[in-house]
Amino acid sequence: MKKRAFITGITGQDGSYLAELLVKKGYKVFGLVRQMKHDSLKYINKLYKNKDIVLIKGDLHNLGSIKKALKIAKPDEIYNLAAQSDVSISFIQPEETFEVNYHGFGRLVNEAIKINPKIKIYQASTSEMFGKIKPPQNENSPFHPFSPYGQSKLKAHEDYVVGYREKRSIFICSGILFNHESPRRGKNYVTRKITTSLVKIKLGLQDYFELGNLDSKRDWGFASDYVEVMWEMLRQKNPQDFVIATGQSHTVRDFVNEAVKVLGMKITWHGKGLKEVVKDENGKVILQINKKYYRPADTNYLIGDSKKAKRILGWRLKHSFRDLVKIMTESDLKEIKESISK
Ligand code: NAP
Ligand code: GDD
Repeated sequence: MKKRAFITGITGQDGSYLAELLVKKGYKVFGLVRQMKHDSLKYINKLYKNKDIVLIKGDLHNLGSIKKALKIAKPDEIYNLAAQSDVSISFIQPEETFEVNYHGFGRLVNEAIKINPKIKIYQASTSEMFGKIKPPQNENSPFHPFSPYGQSKLKAHEDYVVGYREKRSIFICSGILFNHESPRRGKNYVTRKITTSLVKIKLGLQDYFELGNLDSKRDWGFASDYVEVMWEMLRQKNPQDFVIATGQSHTVRDFVNEAVKVLGMKITWHGKGLKEVVKDENGKVILQINKKYYRPADTNYLIGDSKKAKRILGWRLKHSFRDLVKIMTESDLKEIKESISK
């Protein structure tokens, strides 16, 4: 009999890569979706049309829809990837962020264990839970989140992952994943914002773009490499948490420089702080700073230490930072060129 997996957040970056992986591994895959619109299904449309996955309409806000979905899916494994995942938005909408990331997850876990106490659950936890803690961060580092997003994820981790594992012996674990990107990354995140903006500038479709904190350092990996370890975590004899990261950190500025190289553009940096700008070879400003993209509090420096995942899960880095920027930039160049030639 085929194993059954239920993925929340299946329309997102990680959800779509994970669905592809689990289908390849022979799972019967079910996904919770808020809308059946063509646009929201763009990364999973092929799987859906080929009947490789079953989509069930629902929302983590709505207990009834969760119950119904679980009744249909009857999963052996749940991957909870659904979230209000935008850190900036969490400062503006903290209640909504908690409602989905904490209470929504609670609803899902409580219903799932009623139906099947032996169920295995993966929770998408995050390096944003470390916040202020100095790098490198690993499973033994304390947590000190800065953002409502990080706080909501930490509370979900403490109450439902660690709490239910210790007090109720549920098979549940957190992947504490550091930033991971891909051509499927939302355009509101800094990496994809940089690649799409620079491509449009290169093609003469846009004059300039704006960013916030250029000095922020992130440990950026390639998303499709990260979904395999989610599955690996549920293969362990005992449920436990793992930090997944590349172990290398780069600034937002480094990301811009690398993407510019891929596009063969020549740029120069001028000024400091809010007055910093980037000019192209003709002296035209193509990047400037806008205060509105700064956060009330930012996690400034993330580097993950994944020794535990390397030892136990065999986690290995497949794509370097350079590979990642190249893949994303070239993909956007192709996509945008195609869209203008239509
Ligand atoms: P993403 O692309 O933003 O996807 C988020 C998914 O959640 C989408 O499918 C979205 O559905 C769904 N969703 C949002 N609110 C929902 C609700 N109320 N009910 C049901 N579904 C809802 O995120 P991602 O980058 O793939 O990340 C996946 C998970 O990993 C998230 O939990 C994120 O917080 C966590 N994480 C991500 C990273 C990273 O660097 N990517 C790092 C650490 C942890 P719609 O299509 O309907 O909007
Ligand atoms: N989004 C954005 N837009 N970020 C900017 C900008 C901008 O214009 N300018 C500078 N940044 C800086 C942010 O201040 C932050 O320090 C860094 O770029 C990365 O921002 P994001 O790409 O929005 O990602 P994030 O690190 O806040 O959150 C992502 O990674 C987390 C893991 O640490 C999300 O995927 C979260 O869901 C995930 O948990």
